[in-house]
Amino acid sequence: MTPPVPAAVFASGSGTNLQALLDHETPNGRYRIVVVISDREGAGALGRAEAAGRVARTIEVGGRPPEEVATETLALLESLEVRAIFLAGYLQLIPSAVVSAFRRRILNIHPALLPAFGGKGMFGKRVHEAVLASGTELSGATVHYVEEEYDTGTLVGQWSVRVFPGDDVPALAARILSVEHRLYPAVADHVCEAWAAGRDPGPFPLSPAESGSEINIEGR
Ligand code: GRF
Repeated sequence: MTPPVPAAVFASGSGTNLQALLDHETPNGRYRIVVVISDREGAGALGRAEAAGRVARTIEVGGRPPEEVATETLALLESLEVRAIFLAGYLQLIPSAVVSAFRRRILNIHPALLPAFGGKGMFGKRVHEAVLASGTELSGATVHYVEEEYDTGTLVGQWSVRVFPGDDVPALAARILSVEHRLYPAVADHVCEAWAAGRDPGPFPLSPAESGSEINIEGR
């Protein structure tokens, strides 16, 4: 059994996806979160990291050159021998030097079916507002590799969630978030298992049924 891949989670908000990743860890698991980095002092995610006994750091981004942010970030990641980065509600662009150093080793989760309803400014309730305004009957959650632009990298895993007539933003957001909490740890296992074996991970099974999860397409 190979040791868990040391991972960092970047989060700006409350960190429920971080919590799902932490809760999924086991001593012989595929990954271990060694540090949580936020751009916001006081972010809920930092409290969750501390409660779990992990390193919790704030790295300021606003008003600083990206190169300086990258240098500070890479020094911290290198000091902890981090080999994978999971973005979980991180609202800043990752500096290109960090993307280059961790090419195809950075994942993000997005609360819609990319490439639809993604890109700059598409975060939080704006995503669900756009989905509801479009009249589509299907939304979902997507895990993808991170590139220099928002929401552009190769998709790794995607699970669908039904949009019901009469749905409002809170209802749809909650239904998708509960799917995210299952999808992200499963994809994290999938990629880390492959990386530990020196393989390219390839895509993660499309539907929950294929991956053995009990949830169905409606996210219930
Ligand atoms: C999630 O909906 C995720 O898809 C998006 O940001 C949100 C973070 O939520 N990128 P939380 O902080 O993990 O609860």
